[in-house]
Amino acid sequence: MQTLSTPVKAAITELTAQQHEPFYLYDLDQLAKHLKTINDQSIVKLWYAVKANPLSAVIQTLDQAGFDFDVASSGELKQVLSQGIDAKRVLNTGPAKSKQQIEEFLTLGVTTFVAESVNQVAWLQEAALRHDTQLRILLRVQLRWPNNEKNPLGGDSLTPFGLGADEWATISLIDYPNLDFAGLHIFQWGNMLDASKLASLWQQMIAPLVSLSKRLKMNLRILDLGGGLGIPYSREDSAIDWQAILTSLAQFKADAQVDELWMELGRYAVGECGYYLNPIIEQKKNYGANQLILAGGINHLLRPAVTGQAFPATLLRESQATTVPFTLHGPLCTALDNLGEHQLPADAYENDWLLFSQCGAYGFTESMPYFLCHTLPAEFIYQAGEVRCMRAPLTPSEYLR
Ligand SMILES: Cc1ncc(COP(=O)(O)O)c(C=O)c1O
Repeated sequence: MQTLSTPVKAAITELTAQQHEPFYLYDLDQLAKHLKTINDQSIVKLWYAVKANPLSAVIQTLDQAGFDFDVASSGELKQVLSQGIDAKRVLNTGPAKSKQQIEEFLTLGVTTFVAESVNQVAWLQEAALRHDTQLRILLRVQLRWPNNEKNPLGGDSLTPFGLGADEWATISLIDYPNLDFAGLHIFQWGNMLDASKLASLWQQMIAPLVSLSKRLKMNLRILDLGGGLGIPYSREDSAIDWQAILTSLAQFKADAQVDELWMELGRYAVGECGYYLNPIIEQKKNYGANQLILAGGINHLLRPAVTGQAFPATLLRESQATTVPFTLHGPLCTALDNLGEHQLPADAYENDWLLFSQCGAYGFTESMPYFLCHTLPAEFIYQAGEVRCMRAPLTPSEYLR
């Protein structure tokens, strides 16, 4: 797990003296360093899954590190284009691509798509013909495994992401002359920390994917393995072994005999660079248990309610007090607003701040910010030793209509 560097901690402490509401801070120096490490290789082409964190400065840091961009909506596309990134460097994934969205993407110059249904293939062909252009298409495949793995992206259960091999095998690629079917896309697991388990899952995919490409008479040049690389959210977990991932990807590429492997990373790319700072409103004892009531909860950081997995939390200031177990509660009128059980100094009181780490991915934009009309958290960046406010806190009177 990333440890907060001394200058970033000092910058955060200074910010907490000025701020009264929860806020996010992204350490872009740390992010740039991490991205350089993972992109300094020629085994897998890396795209950034913008859904993980669409902040402009984050996108720019990914751009400078040589990543291209996976977008899943018109909003994400426009955010990427407004950073000066060429539409040719954009990949569009996602199960809900309307005819209107496809038209808009082509008008804005996007040429690479992951198709997730037979309708999407037909609509992409119609749009490509209208625009007199050729599109590069990967077909998203949903495979089933006997060992019944489950997680939010589906694992072995039925999801709307792509189609089974038998459904894809019903189409004839020559019916779509404006589409260059370059390969297949598969991604069914999330937040994996075990490189050997991933390697084994990837190996099991080769035979069914190659078999499908043969049934389709597709020249399989590209395989896209999506995202799914995890970061540790608890101190017991260790980071995924990136070198081991590269070794298994190299083996996978050789075994599948493809020219290119792609991945579009979200969590593993940006998750560790983000911090969420949250003031304590009060400490109380309830049925003998220690509770901390916080200014922000799942309205700013939803993931614990969806996955049951808390973000790591520490007291920002130094304390010599012994640590005791606390449950952390946000301000919403639902017991779901629970940021987990944490061992914290017994003297954590009002006027203190908690520091949540590993919050760079699936943080603010994945949350439910309007519930109970609280202030939306500010977003700050730390870059080259400087702190910059990217968005000031937004009060309810500014956003309510
Ligand atoms: C198609 C696709 N690719 C990549 C990602 C990013 O996944 P991760 O954050 O696990 O890297 C997602 C996330 O939902 C996705 O839907």
